[in-house]
Amino acid sequence: MKKVNVAIMGLGTVGGGTYDILTQNHGYIKSTQGLDIRVKRVLDRDREKALGRGVPQTAFTDNIDEVVADKDIDIVIETMGGVEPAKTFITKALKSGKSVVTANKELISKFWYELEPVAKENGVGLYFEASCVGGVPVIRTLTESMQANRICELYGIINGTTNYILTKMTEEGLGYETALREAQQLGYAEFNPSADVDGYDAVYKLSILSSLAFHTTIPYKNVYREGITRITADDIKSARELGYVIKLLAIGRRDGNKVEARVHPTFVPAEHPLASVRGSFNAVLLTGDYVDDIMLYGRGAGARPTGSAIVSDVIFCAKRRSHDYTDFAVSETPQAGTEIVGDFTSKYYIALTALDRAGVLASVAKILAESGVSINTILQKGNSGDHATITFLTHKAGEHAVMGALEKIGRSEYVRSIDSVIRCL
Ligand code: NAP
Ligand code: HSE
Repeated sequence: MKKVNVAIMGLGTVGGGTYDILTQNHGYIKSTQGLDIRVKRVLDRDREKALGRGVPQTAFTDNIDEVVADKDIDIVIETMGGVEPAKTFITKALKSGKSVVTANKELISKFWYELEPVAKENGVGLYFEASCVGGVPVIRTLTESMQANRICELYGIINGTTNYILTKMTEEGLGYETALREAQQLGYAEFNPSADVDGYDAVYKLSILSSLAFHTTIPYKNVYREGITRITADDIKSARELGYVIKLLAIGRRDGNKVEARVHPTFVPAEHPLASVRGSFNAVLLTGDYVDDIMLYGRGAGARPTGSAIVSDVIFCAKRRSHDYTDFAVSETPQAGTEIVGDFTSKYYIALTALDRAGVLASVAKILAESGVSINTILQKGNSGDHATITFLTHKAGEHAVMGALEKIGRSEYVRSIDSVIRCL
């Protein structure tokens, strides 16, 4: 029986879930996987919290050097989050010949290009299944199961917190703040919720996933980002009336050497499979040139699902005689030959408030037409005063053309405000 000693750094939501699985399922993993995995060390700031969870006094440390110096530790699990000191700790572990398993998407997306070479030089593994889409095995699917295909599209709901908030706002009419508080209490939200609601977390994940899917680095800085903080109850109501639901969608598309990578709220047709992904559930829809569509679905956040992904990486790592690395050179900037497209095309939902007067609608439509933006549906609702709400659904149009037209419309003397601009799937 192979004995494997691990250290867990960070005993919070995910580290705690990982500790529970490794201790409670120890016998099951031993009998099914032939691995005797022991948690030899737990590193955290808070000794009392760790002891309260059942960590033996002798296993606790708050000193990374004790973890690194322990020759019996084979794999270090990092579940602290953030860039520092996680980056320094992981680098020390890799340099001391220990493989690392991490859930830290921010760190991987920002410093993959530094950490992977350190792992390679030291002949150890760097695994991060848990960094993307919680318990859903999307990284292993991309790297171990879809290699025969050129992946051309990736559509995902890859943030549990925002999906939970949007679901609660849509189905229960809950206010944004209340829904966010619930997501925090359930352990889905990042330490700083801006990482979730402003779309950064989904950007980090899309950067990792689209790099793996398209075999070229898509730096997080090149991913277009818009969060959910401006989504209103009116937007949700309009979406419903038009046959859509609003989701924070991550979209990656490849056409030859051109790649699109974007995260933004999106009108998803109510009958689309992604529309039925609710609460903290996530899903990723991948399209390969031979396999066609594959949809992966499951819990995208939380202690147990994410712990499950961590332990799966630990088992995967422990069973390997040697480690694989990415099949492209991970870099800080896009590789020569890859063009990341900013002027993508989409359909748009636009809502604006304008004077309720003859000719106003025509003048707005004229600006859109002059910019090459064709209208599919228009709806005008008079308000109680002298203004009206006008909503448009456009046909597919270029992002720059639409934004240019909206700038002109926004300057028009008849238009009081442009209230919403949401892209449609
Ligand atoms: P968390 O609940 O805040 O846990 C982090 C733990 O690490 C806390 O116990 C924290 O202690 C400890 N810690 C932080 N910095 C430390 C340091 N310098 N030295 C010692 N201990 C330190 O966070 P989490 O939600 O588990 O997230 C952890 C990581 O998993 C993040 O990278 C996150 O993005 C990722 N992730 C989370 C989820 C999820 O559903 N929550 C899912 C997938 C991936 P204090 O409490 O004292 O700060
Ligand atoms: N905060 C993240 C989310 C955790 O809500 O999806 C999972 O990565």
